[in-house]
Amino acid sequence: MQQQRENWGSRLGFIMAAAGSAVGLGNIWRFPYTAGENGGGAFILIYLGFVFVIGISVMTAELALGRKTSLAAVGALKSQNRNWTFVGVLGVLSAFLILGFYPVVGGWSLAYIVKSLSGILATPDTIPDAFGIFISNPVEPLLWMLLFLAMNITIVAKGIAAGIEKAGKVLMPMLFALLVLLAIRSVTLPGAGAGIDFLLKPDFSKVTATTFLAALGQAFFSLSLGMGIMLTYGSYLGKDQNLPQNAFIITSMDTLVAILAGLAIFPALFAFGLEPTAGAGLVFVVVPTIFAHMGVLGPVFSTLFFIALAVAALTSSISLLETVTAYFIDERGMDRKKAVYGIGASMVVTNTLASLSLGAMSGVSILGVGFFDFFDILTDKIFLAIGGLLISVFVGWFMNKEDLRDELTNQGKISFGLFNVWYNLIKYVIPIAISFVAVAGIISVTQTGLMLFGLALIVFLAIFSKKLA
Ligand code: TRP
Repeated sequence: MQQQRENWGSRLGFIMAAAGSAVGLGNIWRFPYTAGENGGGAFILIYLGFVFVIGISVMTAELALGRKTSLAAVGALKSQNRNWTFVGVLGVLSAFLILGFYPVVGGWSLAYIVKSLSGILATPDTIPDAFGIFISNPVEPLLWMLLFLAMNITIVAKGIAAGIEKAGKVLMPMLFALLVLLAIRSVTLPGAGAGIDFLLKPDFSKVTATTFLAALGQAFFSLSLGMGIMLTYGSYLGKDQNLPQNAFIITSMDTLVAILAGLAIFPALFAFGLEPTAGAGLVFVVVPTIFAHMGVLGPVFSTLFFIALAVAALTSSISLLETVTAYFIDERGMDRKKAVYGIGASMVVTNTLASLSLGAMSGVSILGVGFFDFFDILTDKIFLAIGGLLISVFVGWFMNKEDLRDELTNQGKISFGLFNVWYNLIKYVIPIAISFVAVAGIISVTQTGLMLFGLALIVFLAIFSKKLA
């Protein structure tokens, strides 16, 4: 009896940690605006296809590799084959780059808690302009970013404190409940029909190679895949856990939140006559506008929403910082505090550049884009998908099939009827599909220089990373 309770406890803990990493700004901030910029329904269909064929399979592969080796990303690959160490290193680099802009948006969420509370967001007409003015201000968003960063650093420096886990257990369900409420309000607004059509009636005439690349990148970003986070979490999982089933649960939760965010945003957006292609400001404009129309309770809900968003961002950001930190502790023998503060200091630099690139430094570009976009595009248009590709190739071609079957069936104790399907997906279909999407997308994307730079960096790592790890 007691043992069963313990098992459940640890399983729930794992699912919460993994879902806490997956559910973040990617679902609520990034998914809606990416869908908006890429034509809505058609993008979402392609996204769902990628999530439930590629995403879930790669997640299963990461969990299996992690649990089999009981090692975190770099170590797990190194233990199997030294030539593949660079895939782990690429993951650490991706985490560091995502951490270069994630706290900027985390800071916006914090700022919007206070703005909601103070009633500044109570007048719908001023909300769109207020966002633009806020993020391009040279000082204000920096202070919020620093606050978010400080929270992130403090928690990771202490190890993952019980506080954030507890907060997550309350605030994540609250976020979910608020999204359901928002979605209901949104679809029942007069004029919501156009938004529902936008979401559910796919317009394939807008689909190009770039749409596929955006959907693939979004799938990896949202599921926290392609850089060894799930691999690392898998390494802490008990031998009696059902890996494919866990992958399915985490993937479904993550997708549900994204779809809810879409349902909350688009119907309201059309009802209020806003533009679906508004870009990065979408959530920060549409959600406060919905609340501003809700009367006295609006500011209360708005405050709760941004608290929950900030917490979702924080739990994801923690998993990212932990990845980089673990590398410096495990592979470079560094002390935890030293590692975290060192990385934190560099994050102050990268995030300041990212934040300023939206305002004061908007004229400065590297390879054709500002710093914010540089970190963003480099990771979710190239590194994550290629990371996923390399992990698939490694698992499919460099690991023993029967070992994998044993790992995924817990040595034959549970059944995994789709094993052969999964194996062939990982070995053949996913590497080919990702290569295809990546090549077509990279050719058609406007930032060719940036893409080539990213690929060159991966090749460089592949050649030199034996020295790095
Ligand atoms: N999945 C998170 C989100 O949706 C972001 C994130 C956390 C992430 N850890 C990651 C993305 C690892 C890629 C890889 O916001």
